[in-house]
Amino acid sequence: MSDLLKQLEAMAVQAEAELATATTSDSSEAWYRQYLGRTGEMTTALRGLGQLSREERPVVGKAANQIKQRLEAALQERQDAIRQAEMEAALSAEGVDVTLPGRSQNVGRIHPSNATLREISQIFGQMGFQVYDAPEVETDETNFTLLNMPDGHPARDMWDTFYTTTPGVILRTHTSPGQIHAMRDYCPQPIRVILPGKCYRHEDVTARSEMMFHQVEGLVVGRNITFSDLKGTLVNFVNQMFGEGRSLRFRKSYFPFTEPSVEVDVDCVLCGGSGCRVCKYTGWLEILGAGMVNPVVLQNGGYDPSQFSGFAFGMGPERIAMLKHGVDDIRYFFTNDVRFLERVG
Ligand code: PHE
Repeated sequence: MSDLLKQLEAMAVQAEAELATATTSDSSEAWYRQYLGRTGEMTTALRGLGQLSREERPVVGKAANQIKQRLEAALQERQDAIRQAEMEAALSAEGVDVTLPGRSQNVGRIHPSNATLREISQIFGQMGFQVYDAPEVETDETNFTLLNMPDGHPARDMWDTFYTTTPGVILRTHTSPGQIHAMRDYCPQPIRVILPGKCYRHEDVTARSEMMFHQVEGLVVGRNITFSDLKGTLVNFVNQMFGEGRSLRFRKSYFPFTEPSVEVDVDCVLCGGSGCRVCKYTGWLEILGAGMVNPVVLQNGGYDPSQFSGFAFGMGPERIAMLKHGVDDIRYFFTNDVRFLERVG
């Protein structure tokens, strides 16, 4: 074996030993420069081939090339291993820790007032009532006059409201003006609608009253509609809303737009009838006002009172939700404390 070949072989053995200790991309790069790079030891030694005789050159050249290829292959293998190890290290350092507790998402829900409105709509829907949308911004005429409360009528005192800078334009104090809109829309067809929505009153805010609250108005107009129809409808509603077997009380009352008029109470679930702050120590909770549509109102809606009759009622869903869920203060509905919103509805 030629001296050159011996020298190359010895160099290769040493290079291979060194390569085995390279554990990073940087050290394998440095190894490449030291042996195989343009000025590397192997490259320089191979230049010695030029000094060999014609006979020696092809034999030694071939063997020398094989040594060089051996080193190149060893480097490739080493670099692959290093890259693999570096990738695994990076992955395990940056990886997702699946044992960490997750971040919980807050899930929204329907507001208790709206949940109650939906429940009420569903019950009346089964009885064939449709939902009729009426405006919250009303006129003095529809809110009062056409409901049989002309200017100066003492009953107007029961419904003080918020006035706008436009004369005669007010926020509605009840959903009853919707009766006029529905009648004028439907006349001369028979009517069976509920009118849910917000109402406004200028009064002291207490555990029982807010200046904004919801109401659901009911209106039925047709031929031969009687007080029994009103009673049957309400008894059916209360049984579905509060469960069978609740006590129901009809008290005679007065509303300018109904004649005769009643107020309807359900026994107070909060105190079981023994008396508490919410039921004003009576054992009863008023849930709605109702009555037979006053002939004057029928006429204002376009119906001939000698041919048509009807009944109407108006209830407060917040009060109903208070009864169902044992809430003792209506103000909780509008202060948006999530502890309340998550518990009720
Ligand atoms: N609008 C009345 C109120 O707000 C309730 C009511 C509606 C009474 C329909 C009778 C008929 O108090």
